[in-house]
Order: sequence, then structure tokens, then C-alpha cells
Amino acid sequence: MSQITFDESFSSSNTFHICFVCLGNICRSPTAEGIFQHAVNERGLEDYFVVDSAGTSAFHIGEPANSKSRKVALERGVELTSKARQFTAADLDLFHLIIVMDDENKANVRLLANTEEQKSKIHLMREFDPVPEDGQVPDPYYGGISGFHNVFDILERSSNALLDVIEPYIAR
Ligand code: 4NP
Repeated sequence: MSQITFDESFSSSNTFHICFVCLGNICRSPTAEGIFQHAVNERGLEDYFVVDSAGTSAFHIGEPANSKSRKVALERGVELTSKARQFTAADLDLFHLIIVMDDENKANVRLLANTEEQKSKIHLMREFDPVPEDGQVPDPYYGGISGFHNVFDILERSSNALLDVIEPYIAR
């Protein structure tokens, strides 16, 4: 299980800012955002979190989540409402944790980081997955509906485990 460290801005604000990142911000990261926010709400922690997502590319800026992502999520009790945006260097200061879906996302976010503190905020989602397999959240974009169900399963497991790691740091 991954170790995470929090910078001083977290203890002073006591609102935990977390951003999920993939390539397009229409499949994996909006699903992660929706599932994580749902878990936060179920635990009654919504006053203590800002949950967001972004893409490393500009391909789909302004678009809602992919229709298959939204369908699968809704079937499983999670509404995806976000609109795609591109990740920027400023996000490395605005968020306490940047959770990326695969090694390519990680490399692209790291290119924007200037300091060790910024780099330390970047983690793979599957560092927190109890069944981490190859460490990647696979891109479902070009495949069928089963890939979207698989992504949902991975993100649900990983989000709950990630929230278990963060929750003790939230001073209620
Ligand atoms: P995502 O999936 O990174 O999970 O949002 C993709 C969405 C779009 C593209 C690739 C992956 N694309 O090439 O347009």
C-alpha cells in the first residue's frame, strides 16, 4: 500500500483537494471523481473535500463524460456530472494529491512539476488498489462496455482504499 505525505497547506486549510487525471478526462478520471465523491458523501465527509478531475490532453475540453462511462456509473449508483478540462501546472499547487491513471499520465504530469514537493503529490491510482495487477487503469475508450465495467470495478476498489488512507488525516 502506498505511503502518502501531505504538505503544510493541508493542515492549515483542512479541506483536502484531490484531482484525478487521465488522458482525455472523459472516461477514467471523471469516473474516479464521481466514485470518490460518492464515497466521501457516504462517509459524511463532504465538507472536508474538494474533488476534481482533468486530462493531460486538450482533445475533449468542455465535453461531458463518455456516454458508456455515464451509463455504467449510473447503473451502479454514481452520477457523472463533470465537464472535461485540461490539467495545468497551477493544479500542482492547488491540489494536495494528483492521482493519475497510468504511467503515461504520470510522465506527462511530472513534466509540468518544478519542485520535489509538487512531484511528491503525484501517485498512480492503483498504488491504492488491493488488487494492483500491472499498476495501470486501462484506457477503455476504444473498447466495448465490458472494459468500462472493469474500469469501474478498479476505480471503486481503489477509491475506497485511497479514502481509507486519507480519512485519518481529516480532523472533524
Ligand atoms: P480517458 O480515455 O483518458 O480515460 O478519458 C480516453 C479518451 C479519449 C481519448 C483517449 C483516451 N482520445 O484519444 O480521444
